[in-house]
Amino acid sequence: MPLEALAEWLQPLLVQASLPQNRQLYRALRELILQGRLQGGQRLPSSRQLATALQIARNTVLYAFEQLQAEGYVLTRHGAGSYVAETLPDPSPQGEVTTPVENAAGGPYLSRRVQQVLGGMQMRGFMRERTPAFWPGVPELAQFPHLLWQRIWQRQQRQMPRDWLGYTRAGGHQGLKQVLSDYLRLTRALNCSPEQILITSGTQQSLDLLARALADPGDVAWMEEPGYGGASAALTAAELALCPVPVDNEGLCWERGDYPVPRLIYVTPSHQYPLGCVMSLSRRRSLLQYAAQQQSWILEDDYDSEFRYDGAPLAALQGLDRAQRVIYMGTLSKACYPGLRLAYLVLPPVLVEPLTRLQARLLREPDYVKQATLAEFIAEGHLASHIRRMRQLYAARQQLLRDSIADGLEAEAALLGGQGGLHVVCPLPVGSKERPLMQQLQQRQVQTPPLGSFHLATPQQSGLVLGYAGVHENDIRRAGRILGQQLRVFTADPEQS
Ligand SMILES: Cc1ncc(COP(=O)(O)O)c(C=O)c1O
Repeated sequence: MPLEALAEWLQPLLVQASLPQNRQLYRALRELILQGRLQGGQRLPSSRQLATALQIARNTVLYAFEQLQAEGYVLTRHGAGSYVAETLPDPSPQGEVTTPVENAAGGPYLSRRVQQVLGGMQMRGFMRERTPAFWPGVPELAQFPHLLWQRIWQRQQRQMPRDWLGYTRAGGHQGLKQVLSDYLRLTRALNCSPEQILITSGTQQSLDLLARALADPGDVAWMEEPGYGGASAALTAAELALCPVPVDNEGLCWERGDYPVPRLIYVTPSHQYPLGCVMSLSRRRSLLQYAAQQQSWILEDDYDSEFRYDGAPLAALQGLDRAQRVIYMGTLSKACYPGLRLAYLVLPPVLVEPLTRLQARLLREPDYVKQATLAEFIAEGHLASHIRRMRQLYAARQQLLRDSIADGLEAEAALLGGQGGLHVVCPLPVGSKERPLMQQLQQRQVQTPPLGSFHLATPQQSGLVLGYAGVHENDIRRAGRILGQQLRVFTADPEQS
C-alpha cells in the first residue's frame, strides 16, 4: 500500500487527546489489520517513513510497531522490514467473536460497512456564501430565482390538501410526475409515462433504494473507474462487491476485460463523471444487449445533461432500451440547487410497485408542498428559462477558467469534458504525484480534488478535477492564475512540485 494512502487512513484515527500518541497509533494500525485493510503479508513502511508522513516522532512509531509485534499482528524480518502477520492472533482472550465497543480513536464502534463508506474521508462543508474555486459538483446558487420560488411555494402551502399532512404513499406528487414525464420525453427522448416515475429526495436516495431493492450483499456491481464517489458509497453501504471497470473516451470499457457478471451496472453515459466523455452509440447498444442477456440492471445517472455547450445533448440510454433493463436517475441538484433535495427515478413498469412501497416503508417520501412547487415551476416554464440562463453563464465561466490558466499551461488545450456539465478535468502526466500539487494549491486557497480520489483501484491516470459553474468570476480569475503558475512549475518538474 502506498505510504500516502496509509497516512491518510491513519490521520483521522489519531485524534484522541486522552491517549498517548504511541497508544493511538498502535490501536489505529491494529484496527486497520483487523478490518483487513492492511492484509497478511503486506509490507509496512519503515518507522522513519511513517513518522515523516504523519509528522510525529519516530519513537512513537517504533513503540507502536513493537507492541504490534509483541502481540503477533506484525512480524519483523531482519533486514527486510516489518510485515503484517498472515495468521492473526485472536483478539479476544476466550476466543469468542466479540463486537468491539469502541474504535481505535476511542469513539463508538461503527459497522464495517460504514467504516468503509466513511473511510479516511474528511467532510468539507461549504457553509459559505461562495463556492470555493474549483470545488466540483455545485451549480450557481445565488442566481436561482428564489423569490419566484417562494411565491409559488406560499401559494401551494395555502391550498395544500389535507392528505399531504399524513404519511403519503403515492411515490410522489401526481402533477410533478406528469410534468417530469413530458419534460423527459421531449428533452431526453425517454420512453416513459408518469406512472413509471418515483420521486425521491436526491440521487443518493435513489441509489440507496435501488441497491437495497435489487441486489443482495455480495452481489457484483460494476462501477465506472474513475467514478462517482456517491454511487460507490451507496453500493458499498448495501454490502455489494464493487467491481471497477475502466472508462475510455467512448465510455464504460468492459468488452476487453474479464469482469464478473454484475447484478447492477452504474453509468453516467451523457457526461461521464468525472472524465466528461459521452458514451458512444455502439457502446450503448452493446451495453444494453449485454444487460439484457445477463438480466443485469443498468443504473443510468443523468446528473447534468441540461448543461451542454456544443449542440443538443445525446438522447438518454433509457430511450434506446427495448428490454427494460435501464433505470433512469435524474436530479434537480444541478438544474436548481442541491439543498432542494428532489430527484426522480424512471422505473421499468415491473419495479414501480415494489420500489414505491419500499420507499414509503424505509425512507418515507419527500415533502409534497415542495414537489407541487416544483411541478408549477416547471409547468410555467421557469425551470427551462433558468437552465437557459445558467447554460450561458457556465459556458462563459468555463471559457474564463481556460483563459485564466492558459498562461501556464499547454494542457489548457487538453482540458477534458468541457462540452458540457459543471466541471472539467485537467490531465497531468501519467504517474504524477497529484497530492503534493493539490496541497500546494490548497495552501493558496485553491481547492481541486485529485483524479486519484475518484478511483477504487490504483489510478491509471493523473489529473485535477476543476468545478467552475458555481464559482464567482473574480474567484475563477484569481485561482486560475495560481493554478496556471503551479501547473507550469509542476509540468517542468513533476518530482519537485
Ligand atoms: C455523478 C453525480 N450524480 C448525481 C449527483 C447528485 O446527487 P444528489 O441528487 O443526491 O444531490 C451528483 C452530485 O454531485 C453527481 O456528481
